[in-house]
Amino acid sequence: MTKAQIWVAGFLAAFILLLVLQNFTTTENSHSAGMGGMQQMAAGPANNPSVGGKELLTNFNCVTCHGADLKGTNLAPGLYGLKGTYSSQMLVSYLKNPQSFEGGARYKALKEKYSNRVMPSFGNRDDKDLEAIATYLLSLE
Ligand code: HEC
Repeated sequence: MTKAQIWVAGFLAAFILLLVLQNFTTTENSHSAGMGGMQQMAAGPANNPSVGGKELLTNFNCVTCHGADLKGTNLAPGLYGLKGTYSSQMLVSYLKNPQSFEGGARYKALKEKYSNRVMPSFGNRDDKDLEAIATYLLSLE
């Protein structure tokens, strides 16, 4: 091999190593916000036939406000222990249109406490995805 060929081979090896490492961190880091969506795409649907509620919370960027651990940030409340308050159906309605809960005391209190952010509406998402999210949230005690 010439010197140039050795360099090319070296670069290729480093590139492949990077790809492998990236793949590894993707599975390790599925909580991290932001890159989540892209990583999901890179992994491809074949690797991930049924995306569960937990992954959807990352894909839909819920974690940017509610925290990677869903325990809340100064932008939004934690999402543990909702079972006593919401049924699955109610959670789906909430995600579709949070404003529809605005008559309730809980909604008002949360609104006041987290006045610098508004819970977005996810009415344009697939019902199945919202149901998967609701099921997952209700499992967090
Ligand atoms: C832009 C920040 C932001 C994003 C993104 C966001 N939320 Fe929220 N969420 C809030 C805020 C703020 C509240 C408190 C109510 C309010 O102020 O509207 C809230 C409230 C909630 C509540 C009600 C909690 C309770 O105790 O009653 C649920 C459930 C919820 N969010 C789930 C989600 C899910 C699931 C997603 C992703 C599909 C999501 N949120 C994305 C900011 C956000």
